[in-house]
Amino acid sequence: MAAAGTGKPRILVTRKMMPEVERRISAEFHATLNPDDRQMGRDEILAEAGHHDGLLLTSFDKLGPEFIPALPPSIRIIATHSVGYDHLSIPQAEAKGVAVTNTPGVLTDATADVALLLILGAARGASWGDRMVRENRWGETTLLTPMGHDVSGQRLGILGMGRIGQAVARRGRAFGMTIHYYSRKPVAVEDALGAIYHPRLEELLPNCDFLSINCASTPETRGMVNAQALALLPKGAIVVNTARGDIVDDGALIAALSSGRLAAAGLDVFKGEPNIDPRYRALDNIFMLPHIGSATPGTRNAMGHKCIDNLLQFFRGERPTDLLTRT
Ligand code: DGY
Repeated sequence: MAAAGTGKPRILVTRKMMPEVERRISAEFHATLNPDDRQMGRDEILAEAGHHDGLLLTSFDKLGPEFIPALPPSIRIIATHSVGYDHLSIPQAEAKGVAVTNTPGVLTDATADVALLLILGAARGASWGDRMVRENRWGETTLLTPMGHDVSGQRLGILGMGRIGQAVARRGRAFGMTIHYYSRKPVAVEDALGAIYHPRLEELLPNCDFLSINCASTPETRGMVNAQALALLPKGAIVVNTARGDIVDDGALIAALSSGRLAAAGLDVFKGEPNIDPRYRALDNIFMLPHIGSATPGTRNAMGHKCIDNLLQFFRGERPTDLLTRT
């Protein structure tokens, strides 16, 4: 599977990409593609890495803390086809002298669209309704069942007011929601879109009829939405997550959904995905998607091109636009 030839940098691409992205990466580099889209394990990637100068990874590649220290010296850069980089340790990469880049900006709208899909789907019982139609059980609906929850006029709390959080806020406003948010720092007034800032998560939560999780997964945010946090939400609140599953304590969320303390949840991301906590599958008041926030052709093409642009800049000796490491 080694990339042949000399001259152009050799890039190992761990997953199948959009056709135009694969065409461009093959033209710009000596690229080793994965036409069968097999999920490669850590040992296989490490063995292949020795024949390459750079890696184009994805957030599907959960390679663990042993991965970066074990990389062969030929690898000088990792471009991840994701905005999130919780699957890679930046300090380890810096210690090893490996550059890391990501793909911010180009998946903002697609991901915010999915956050709204989760808000609407969770509020209106979309999974339940879909099942009723497919299972020919339409006759079970009455004037009293199913009964969803209003979205317009409700308070939407945003945890993490970065690009995606702001795009969710814009969409929430279009649905007549009032926006509250918590971030480490307030965002510039023009970006806040009239949203009300809360300097502590504990202050945001009582103001959320809906809570949208949009922060990065970091050591500080992992497990942040735990039993204590959920207890501060108003009874009947709805939680949606398009960020990362490990920001939420699954046991606490499942308990709050089972008891009815929370009305519903909408989840596109899960801790340990695709091996999610099986108790989620038994809940009726949950709308689940398989991490499709960025899954549109335009967005996936833009993400692929961003990876290529960053790799080209790096191998030309320039600073990549989306460099996460210090060097
Ligand atoms: C991202 O880019 O981080 C998306 O969640 C896809 O992994």
